[in-house]
Parts: sequence; structure tokens; C-alpha cells
Amino acid sequence: MYRSHNCGVLRASDIDKKVTLAGWVQKSRDKGFIIWVDLRDRYGVTQLVFDEERTSKALLEQARELGREFVIQVTGTVVERDSKNPNMDTGDIEILVSEFTILNAALTPPFTIEDTTDGGEDIRMKYRYLDIRRNPVKNSLIFRHQVGMQVRNYLSTEGFIEVETPYLIKSTPEGARDFVVPSRMNEGQFYALPQSPQTFKQLLMVGGMDKYFQIVKCFRDEDLRADRQPEFTQIDCEMAFVEQEDILNIFEGLTRHLLQEVKNVTLGDFPRITYAEAMQKYGNDKPDIRFGMEFGELNAVTQHKEFKVFNSAELVVGIAVPGGNAYTRKEIDKLIDWVRRPQVGALGMVYARCNDDGSYKSSVDKFYDQEDLAKWAEVTGAKPGDLICVLSGDTLKVRTQLSALRMELAERLGLRNPEEFAPLWVVDFPLLEWDEETERYHAMHHPFTSPKPEDLPLLETKPGEVRANAYDLVLNGNEIGGGSIRIHDKETQALMFDYLGFTPEEAREQFGFLMDAFQYGAPPHGGIAFGFDRLVAILGGQETIRDFIAFPKNNSGRDVMIDAPADLDTAQLKELSLKLDRQ
Ligand code: AMO
Repeated sequence: MYRSHNCGVLRASDIDKKVTLAGWVQKSRDKGFIIWVDLRDRYGVTQLVFDEERTSKALLEQARELGREFVIQVTGTVVERDSKNPNMDTGDIEILVSEFTILNAALTPPFTIEDTTDGGEDIRMKYRYLDIRRNPVKNSLIFRHQVGMQVRNYLSTEGFIEVETPYLIKSTPEGARDFVVPSRMNEGQFYALPQSPQTFKQLLMVGGMDKYFQIVKCFRDEDLRADRQPEFTQIDCEMAFVEQEDILNIFEGLTRHLLQEVKNVTLGDFPRITYAEAMQKYGNDKPDIRFGMEFGELNAVTQHKEFKVFNSAELVVGIAVPGGNAYTRKEIDKLIDWVRRPQVGALGMVYARCNDDGSYKSSVDKFYDQEDLAKWAEVTGAKPGDLICVLSGDTLKVRTQLSALRMELAERLGLRNPEEFAPLWVVDFPLLEWDEETERYHAMHHPFTSPKPEDLPLLETKPGEVRANAYDLVLNGNEIGGGSIRIHDKETQALMFDYLGFTPEEAREQFGFLMDAFQYGAPPHGGIAFGFDRLVAILGGQETIRDFIAFPKNNSGRDVMIDAPADLDTAQLKELSLKLDRQ
């Protein structure tokens, strides 16, 4: 038996018990006549004590040899501490050690294994197993497990069955590039790793599973960001004989359940807004609604004067920054520089101060009088003490720029409280999205998404205006889930592929299996997938998913610990019939 207790459980009520513990040496303090050692395991830290009075000389000397992160096993008696530590669960007691064994010595770790460490990101990733010993990372992984358990509880109770789908498959179009795996047995041919189990879950509906879910790895070769990893996990779900309303209800229920169980937060009904409304009010299809600062469109109240910049703009739009009139001229200039950075891309920013006495002072006083500015305030909802920030230009670009400014200001004003949760559904996404690069329409969600029947006639005339039965779940400004009601008949699916530029041969080549399945009694169906890593991170009060993944990749998609990706040797390449054409 390695241990009788773990390092987190012993309390004053255990005094006088003889116990055996095992764990890592967090640190030791040697006062000469007395040595304290903090012993750590997953469950906590227990203080060990060796002293001249009560410990043999030999043992005291041995204790002196203990280095940080040594793995040891100790036997001793639980005793009351002279000076108690109320900040530690085990702070009332210590273990007077009678014997111990070094199970494994350790090199000095390259960074301190404490809650706040001196280790930078790169070094912590290289020695991720040491990083996992630190409470913040360890607790994030435990938290992830708890959220996963609650997901399984809820969905199982609702009658969902977890079914595994294959990883070695054929390309599924989710908008990213595929990771591919060469097949040794099928010379020159490749599997693709799933970007999602989309087609398989639809086939499970044809197979009559009715309610499916899976907590599943997905693989996407795309540019990485704080909330994106090349391999990530989805809570993937599909239901048969449902309409959009059924899906929204069940998964609103799941989200509410999770917030209740893991955060003790009770939420009411989630607001729903259309994609068009989200873009108009927030310039963004994943709005953070923990704070206001909604967009006010100002064309009608700005384009009657001689100000050419506004008159020639497709959209003039502003936000009211609460308390923003307190900004100095210099601070406002800095804000203007901020919107002009290439990452944001605005040409400039017009502003109007809302003074406490109800008067206004704008950067364009030459063109607009007090009466005009009062209208700006009315449209943007600005109050005395606020600052109105106005951008203008092409609708789509300006909305994106003002959205970036809105988020930045909210961050600076401390309005993005990670312990406040504001979910919402964004519905009625467009079916198609114009792609400048390829100069054609792409499916905005994926090609299996059904159009709204009433919009179908627009496919011929205004394809960009056709709405889909597609929805996203947004939490605190992050897209945590997305799904749709699917096409379930062969004809509509063929029509869709045609619109997306697939020839009938290409469609058959790639998705023949799905079109065939649709001919054997496919039920109406729909579903959703949550980004599990993102969901867990946001519930955990963060937006970077990396610390909620045990072994994440860095921004270049590398695992710096195992050093992957790596070269293959010539023999292996040959076996896979691969030839590298290196210059
Ligand atoms: P979608 O592509 O919207 O839908 O993905 C669903 C959710 O997965 C998360 N996500 C990611 N998380 C981390 N890293 C990534 N690279 C990454 N990419 C996506 C997001 C997103 O909302 N098959 C459809 C679902 C369906 O229609 O049912 C799908 O995969 O949180």
C-alpha cells in the first residue's frame, strides 16, 4: 500500500493517527534544528515535520537531502501544529515523520511549480507534465471533467445515446482544410481526419438512432487563435423528427443545466436575435450582451450637411461610451490611433463629447450644431458624461471596425465580467456567403443545412438573401455552438450542391453515400455541436482554451513537448508510397 490517505484530507480530527502519504516535495524549509517539508499530490498539500527532539538524527539528515519535486513516501503521526495556517485545508496539522522512502529523485524543475510561476508559455508547454502539477492547470482539467460529466448526465437523461464515429474518413466540408493520413494498404490514397462527424451523425439519424451525441475530437487545419486549436473537442448532437424550436429548447436546457451545476448560476430564457439584427446592433454575429453600447445608425441625422466623409459613406454608425467624456484629448487621440491600426482598419473616427450640462462638443463642430448632436445622442442612447464615437464607410467593414472598438472599450471599462453569463441564440443565418477569393458562394454553415422554404425562390435572384434554418449559441461574445436543420431529401441536397458549384459527378464522388442514404427513408433531422473546449474555458472564466486542454498545440500547430509534427524516415515514406519533392 503506497498510502493510507491523500495529501488533502487530514484534519485536526485525525490527530494521533498513524498515516502513510505519498507525493511530491513542493518545498522544504530547513531551520537547522527543524525541517518542514510540504508534500503535494492532486488533492492538496500536507506539511511534514522533522525535528531534533522527536526525529532521529539519521532521519533528519536524510530529510536534508530532499530536493524539489522528489517523489517520496512517508509514514508518521498526525500532530497538531504550533502555528496553524488558516489558508490551508490541512493547516491545523502536520505529520511527524517516523520513516520515509525516496521513490524517485527529481531534477530541479525548469520553472517553479506554484500557482504563479516564473515559467513563460514556451517552457511550460515543453514541460507540460510539470505545468499540470500546478493548481491552475490541474484545476482546469478537473473542471473540464466535471463539465463533461454534467453534459453526459443531462443528455443521457434526455434520451441521447453516445455513439462513436470513425476518425479515418473522407473529407467533410466544414470550411477548413483537412488533415490527411496516407493509407499503406491503398497505395496513393488518403483518409481525411474529420473536421466534424457531420455526415456520420446524419447517417445515424437515417439508421434510426433518433437522439445521438458524442464528445468527440475534430481536426481542422486552419489558422490558430486563442479560441482555436487544430484538434479540439465538440459535444456533437443530432436529433430526428425535430424542428429548430425543439433543438433550441433542448440545448438551451443543456446550457442552463451546466451553469446551474458547475457555476451555481440560474439563467432565465435565452434571448434570440436574428443574424441581421446582430449585425446591425453589434456589428458581429456573436455579440457580447453583458453590456450595452448598441450601435446607433446615424445616416439619417448626419447626411444633410456638408460633411463629405459622412455623405459619401454607405453607413454612418456610432456608439455611446459610458462615462467617456472623462477621456482627455490625448486619450481620445490614442483611441483614434487604435481604430486606425491595420488590425482594425478604420480611416478615422469622429467623436462628440456629451457634457454634464447637456451641451455637446464634437470633432466636427464646423458641420454639426447642438441640435444635430442631440439627435446623435438620441440615436446612440448617449447620456450626459458619455462620449459618442462614430465610424463611417462600407457597411460590412464599418460594422466590423465599430464592433472591435466596442469590445475594446468594454474591456478597458471592465464591463466584461467573466463571472457574469449572458447567453443568446443568433438565428436565421444566411444560407450562403460570398467568397471574394474564389468568387462564388459558399455554404455559410455547411452544405447540409436547409434553406428556409419561404426564401427558396430567392435562390435564383438574390442568393445572398436566402436565410437558413441555422443557429448559433453565443456566450459572452464567443460562439460556443452552431447547428442547423438539415436537408433530408436527395433532390434538395443535389440542388444545394449545384448552387455551391459542385458538378453532379463531384457531388456523387464526395457525398454519394449520403445522397444514397436519403433514398432509404431519411427522417427530418437537425442538430448542433458545441465547442467543448470553448464552453469549458468560458465557464471557467477565461477565453483561452489552451489551459483547459491537457496537451495543447502552440500557435504554429506544434506540440513542442513531443516535437510534432516531425519528419518521416525514408523507409516509412516508401511504405506509404510517399515521395517528398524537396529542393
Ligand atoms: P461548427 O463548425 O460551427 O459546426 O463547430 C461547432 C463549434 O465548434 C467550435 N470550434 C472550435 N473550437 C476550437 N477550435 C477550433 N478550431 C474550432 N472550430 C470550431 C466552436 C463552434 O461553434 N458539424 C457542425 C455542427 C452542426 O451543424 O451540427 C459544426 O462542426 O465553438
